[in-house]
Amino acid sequence: MTIVLGIESSCDETGIGIVRIESDGALTLLADEVASSVDQHARFGGVVPEVASRAHLEALVPSVTRAFEAAALELSDVDAIAVTCGPGLAGALLVGVSAAKAYAAALNVPLYGANHLPGHVAADTLEHGPLPSPCLALLVSGGHTQLLRVDDLATKITEVGSTIDDAAGEAYDKVARILGLPYPGGPPIDKAARRGNPDAIRFPRGLTGPRDAKYDFSFSGLKTAVARWVEAREGQEIPVDDVAASFQEAVADVLTAKAVRAATELGIDTMVVSGGVAANSRLSTLAAARCAEAGITLRVPRPRLCTDNGAMIAALGAHLVKAQVRPSSLDLSANPGLPVGTVTV
Ligand code: KG4
Ligand code: ZN
Repeated sequence: MTIVLGIESSCDETGIGIVRIESDGALTLLADEVASSVDQHARFGGVVPEVASRAHLEALVPSVTRAFEAAALELSDVDAIAVTCGPGLAGALLVGVSAAKAYAAALNVPLYGANHLPGHVAADTLEHGPLPSPCLALLVSGGHTQLLRVDDLATKITEVGSTIDDAAGEAYDKVARILGLPYPGGPPIDKAARRGNPDAIRFPRGLTGPRDAKYDFSFSGLKTAVARWVEAREGQEIPVDDVAASFQEAVADVLTAKAVRAATELGIDTMVVSGGVAANSRLSTLAAARCAEAGITLRVPRPRLCTDNGAMIAALGAHLVKAQVRPSSLDLSANPGLPVGTVTV
């Protein structure tokens, strides 16, 4: 049995996860502590990097302490450490990377600089077990929207498509601001949309024309369309629930249509949807219906594992340990632009 500590600090969540690799290779989640600085960013309508870095600095050691209490383990029980080294905010990443290096040096255990994006996919293995090979991952977060072919979580991930402008979560956050809803925009839009009519307004579906890149996404035109629609009704009461529902329908429609098309055309029969936007109720319902229709097995981790957390990094670390991938060196650095195919550095 091997204990893996995971540290996540790429954006506004300080996440500490502890995962045990059982003798049969199964992963058991022992602790998942998340300290969020989201309240400190809310009044700015987006994450303020310097505020996030300081919050990580303050939250990191207490979160580690809480995680070990929850797992009923000691630091000396740790066999390997994984830390998000990119992509993300440089200053925020550096806090986690520095802490992980210090723990690894002090405990004399291997250190893995881990990629945040495959981490989101690895989160699902904590809930639903090993992934079949290959599978298709739809990664939808505040910073990324990507379709990935995953042959092996630890060693072989290939980008199939991605957004050419805004990420899906970013579109949620911007539309929430237009509608006067709080930051982050995903949860309040999800809630408002449940009361609204998704067919009230036909918002554009980006990059769905016959000559458009079939696996790429674009959400900036959709965001602009919502802004124009609202501006055109200045002085009138805006039907927020209907706008939210119609916007959400456009996002979920494009994401699921393109993902199902990619899986079908690439001959892949399992799809994983993860990242913060995977917590969206309409996205998971529509993905379930369309995957069932296409004969694709759908896997979506529970909402807590979809948004940023340390458990997903511990899980990715566990896959790296199991695959006997070479650990990172202690001069590991943060890489804000780490490409998705580089699972570990
Ligand atoms: O994966 P994540 O926690 O952080 C990044 O790596 O970016 O994703 C955060 C994003 C935010 O844009 C937030 O608005 C969105 O996920 N989000 C949602 C929901 N919950 C969070 N979007 C739609 N519906 C939700 N229920
Ligand atoms: Zn994320």
